[in-house]
Amino acid sequence: MEQTQGLVVLDFGGQYAQLIARRLREQGVYAELFPWDAAPDEVMALQPRGFVLSGGPASVYEPGAPRIPEYVFQSGLPILGICYGLQALVHQLGGQVAPAPRREYGLAWLEVPRENPLIPPGRHQVWMSHGDRVEVIPSGFQVLGSTEHSPYAAIGDVERGYYGVQFHPEVQHTPIGPDILRRFAVHVCGVTANWHPGNWIPRLVDEIRQKVGRERVLAAVSGGVDSTVAAALVHRAVGDQLIAVFVDTGLLRKGERELVERVLRDVLGVPLRVVDASQEFLNALRGVTDPEEKRRIVGETFIRVFEQEARAVGHPPFLVQGTIYPDVIESRAPERRHAARIKTHHNVGGLPPDMRFTLVEPLRYFFKDEVRRLGLALGLPEELVWRQPFPGPGLAVRCLGEVTPERLTVLREADAIFREELRRAGYLGPPRRKGPQPVSQAFAVLLPVRAVGVMGDQRTYEEVVALRAVVTEDFMTADWAPLPHELLARVASRIVNEVPGVNRVVYDITTKPPGTIEWE
Ligand code: XMP
Repeated sequence: MEQTQGLVVLDFGGQYAQLIARRLREQGVYAELFPWDAAPDEVMALQPRGFVLSGGPASVYEPGAPRIPEYVFQSGLPILGICYGLQALVHQLGGQVAPAPRREYGLAWLEVPRENPLIPPGRHQVWMSHGDRVEVIPSGFQVLGSTEHSPYAAIGDVERGYYGVQFHPEVQHTPIGPDILRRFAVHVCGVTANWHPGNWIPRLVDEIRQKVGRERVLAAVSGGVDSTVAAALVHRAVGDQLIAVFVDTGLLRKGERELVERVLRDVLGVPLRVVDASQEFLNALRGVTDPEEKRRIVGETFIRVFEQEARAVGHPPFLVQGTIYPDVIESRAPERRHAARIKTHHNVGGLPPDMRFTLVEPLRYFFKDEVRRLGLALGLPEELVWRQPFPGPGLAVRCLGEVTPERLTVLREADAIFREELRRAGYLGPPRRKGPQPVSQAFAVLLPVRAVGVMGDQRTYEEVVALRAVVTEDFMTADWAPLPHELLARVASRIVNEVPGVNRVVYDITTKPPGTIEWE
C-alpha cells in the first residue's frame, strides 16, 4: 500500500468481508483485508488511515469470541464496526450486547434524524442479518439512526471517530451503503478518494523491476484475463526479458489461439512462443471418458509440455503467475477453503516441486474487476478483458465421452455459433447501461448420445449439443440464464443446419447447486 491513503478491513469471519474491501475500492478508497488476529506489525506496516471491522458469526459474550485487538485502539485511528464489528466495539468499550428478541434478517428502514459525518439524514433501505443486538451504548456514543427492531442501528462517537452500524452497507440491498463507506473514509479518516488500479501501474512496474533485475522471466499465458494482464504488466516492466509461452492443447475454442497471438504479439509486442502440443494431448486422452481422468491427464500433459518449454529457453529463474487478491485472502484463511474436492482444477499452480521458480505475482493486490480495469489501462482490447472464464482442461470437459479430433471440431463449431449469436444479441462482452445484461458464462457441450431425426427425407442418427448459459456473481452459485426463446431457436436451427453430425440441441436449465457450471 502507498504511504498511505488506505483503510484496513479486519475480517471477523463474515461472509461479506471481501465485499467491504471491494466496495471501498469502488469508491476510490484503497483497502486491504486481514484476519482479525493478523500480526499487528504486518497490518500497521500499511500505515492505514482507519479500520473497518467486518461482520462475523460469533456472539461477543461467548468465551473465545474474536476481539478487536488492542493495537487498533492504541493507534488512535477511526474505526467503523459493521454488524459483529459494531457489537465487538460496543462490548469492548463498556456497552452491552444481548440476543435480540428475534433474529432480524432482510430489509429494514433506517431513520436518520440529524446530520452526522457517516449517514445522510433521511429514511434509507438497509440490509440486516443478525441475532444479537446492542442494548446499551458505551459512553461517548450517540444514536445516529434506528430501525423498527434495532434502536441502535447506527451509532457514533464523533470525538474519537468510532462508528458502528448493525446493518450491512457492503451489500447491494443497502443502496446508501457505498456512500456510507466513502463518507467514513473521506470525512472521518481524511482519505482522498482517488484510488484507481491504473494509478498503480508505475508502482507495480517498479516492484517487478526491483525483484527481477536483469534476469529472464517466464509466463504461461492461457488467453484468460489474469494471465494476460499479468504478462502485460511484466512486459511493461522488463520488456523482452519476458518470455511468454502459450500452449495450444488442441482443446481450445474456435479462434482462441489467433486472439492470443494477435493481442500479445501485435497489440502488446510481447515475445510469444506458441507451442502446438495438440497431438500430445489428443494421444494422452485417447479412449478416456472419465471426467476426473481427463482433468488429470490434461493437467499432467500441460506440466510436461511446459517443463520442456522452460528447458528449451534455458529455465529462467522467475515465473509470472496471475494470482489475484481473493486467492491471497483465501490462502490466509485456511478454514474457508473448500473441504470437498468437487473437481480437480489444474492450472500452472500445480507445477512439480523440482521446477523451482521465484514467483512474480503482480495482480496479488487486485480483485477480478480491478484486473479488468488494469488491463484496459494497459491497452488490452475489450474483447480480451471481458472474456469469460474458460476451464484449464478446456474442451476436454465439454466433449462428454471420448475426446476425438472429429468430435472436437463439431463442438468447436457449435460453440462458435452459440457465442456469435449471443454476442450479436448483446449477451456477451462488458456490462451494459441499457438492454440485456451479458451472461456470466456460456458454452456448448457435446453429449455422448445419439438421437434420431429427419432431414429432407432422410432419417438421421446423430449427436446432441447442450447449450449452457449462466448468470452468477462469484461462480460458486449460479442461475441458468433465461435467454429469449427466439435467440435459442436461432442458435438451435443454425447448429443443426450448419454443423454436420448434430441433429438435436437442448438447453440446460439446471442451477448450481445442485448442478455445476461445467458438465464434467
Ligand atoms: P464448476 O463447473 O465447478 O465451475 O461450477 C466453476 C467455474 O470454474 C471454471 N472451471 C475451471 N477453471 N480450471 C479453471 O481454471 C479448471 O480446471 C476449471 N474447471 C471449471 C468453470 O468454467 C466455471 O467458471
